[in-house]
Amino acid sequence: MAQRETFGSRAAVIMAMAGSAIGLGNIWRFPYTVGEGGGAAFIIVYLISSLLLAMPIFLAESIIGRTAQAGTFNAMDKLAPGSKWKWLGLLTVISPLIIVSFYSVVGGWSFEYLLKALTLSFGPESTDSIAPMFGNFASSTWGPVLCHTFFITATCLIVLAGVKKGIEKFAKLTMPVLLVLIVVIMIYAVSLPGAGEGVRYLLKPDFSKITGRVIASAMGQSFFSLSLGVGTILIYASYMKKEENLFTSGLGTAAFDLIFAMIAGFAVMPAVFAAGIEPGAGPGLIFETMPYIFAKMGAAAPWLSATIAILFFLTILVAALTSSISMVEAGVAYLTEEKGLTRRKAISILLPSTWALGVLCSLSFGPLSEVHILGCTIFDFCDKLTSNYLMAFGGLLFTFFVGWKMKKETVWNEFTCNGSQKFNCALFSLVYFLIKWVAPIGIVIIFITNLVL
Ligand code: PFF
Repeated sequence: MAQRETFGSRAAVIMAMAGSAIGLGNIWRFPYTVGEGGGAAFIIVYLISSLLLAMPIFLAESIIGRTAQAGTFNAMDKLAPGSKWKWLGLLTVISPLIIVSFYSVVGGWSFEYLLKALTLSFGPESTDSIAPMFGNFASSTWGPVLCHTFFITATCLIVLAGVKKGIEKFAKLTMPVLLVLIVVIMIYAVSLPGAGEGVRYLLKPDFSKITGRVIASAMGQSFFSLSLGVGTILIYASYMKKEENLFTSGLGTAAFDLIFAMIAGFAVMPAVFAAGIEPGAGPGLIFETMPYIFAKMGAAAPWLSATIAILFFLTILVAALTSSISMVEAGVAYLTEEKGLTRRKAISILLPSTWALGVLCSLSFGPLSEVHILGCTIFDFCDKLTSNYLMAFGGLLFTFFVGWKMKKETVWNEFTCNGSQKFNCALFSLVYFLIKWVAPIGIVIIFITNLVL
């Protein structure tokens, strides 16, 4: 059997996992779900969910992936031969493909905004036209569909290039640039007149805002942000060397992811208040506020502002691509490992199907805005279905599998790299308890309350 490729180093593992985790979820989705969820109180629930539910799922997926050294289908088959667990694999193919379809629409918007930045469309004179600019673009027919087409095609072409070369290179290059940019933007944003209100909104919790829906949404966001319950982390972990420390890689990735989201929140929300935009404005939020910041900045330093705008949309485009390639990779892994197709054949099936669903999602901001599924537009339905339900369900099954089906000894061996490294026993017991009890029960309770409410 051919030797499986592995990542070169710990830093490469964290960078590649962070490359998948950090994306539009942090920069686009986090600020607007915070806005819809009422600010600081939402963030507190989000942090609790990240710690008690998301981290255990992250570790559970990593444990399964590295133990089995295979994609979800084969991993389940190896670890629980002949059982129905194999079908969990199906979920990990379907969910990422639904996600990548609507994700690609937002990736397409980022592409359009990069073009706008390149053509200097966010000058100081444009402050009043920036919010309508987004609405007009997103609700039109051809522009967004074309941009989505570009994005999903680029994703699939990169996936064709293979695991190590494509993904590692991309992640390594752009993450630090993006981080520096959003820090700069954040510093500028909080200095805008009226921005203080936005900072207070993020720091002063109003606990009356916490409802069952807000808890479910915070949980969904913490799963979405770390790419959980859909097997992408599992696949990355399967490429990890046996001597790599799972726990610190997981913690490192989660920490990176959280930092990005928080900084993005502190860049966007102050600008939302300074610009007088409604925080619950929904998926268009960053496209309405970021250009506003650039326009304001442009009054004092036009070239600096134009450069930051271009780099910002360029780097989020790349961050979005590194995430979307991990989703398409999930489908490719299934079709090649399970169905014996070549990568090329696999892509030729995945590209048209994700493209078509993406087109429907894109049109749901315009011509199809009246089409509702269970009260949601097509875009919202795909988004909520995956983050609040399918990812949570996947996460539930992964933690249940590790906690109840795998031997505790196997889990210990993964944490200690087969006894070659030390791991604190008390910490292990705590983490194991979270995986076995807290995460599965927590998810079930949130599921049930959400359904009942
Ligand atoms: N975690 C990614 C983000 O924050 O943008 C989104 C994502 C990637 C979700 C990969 C699911 C996935 F499989």
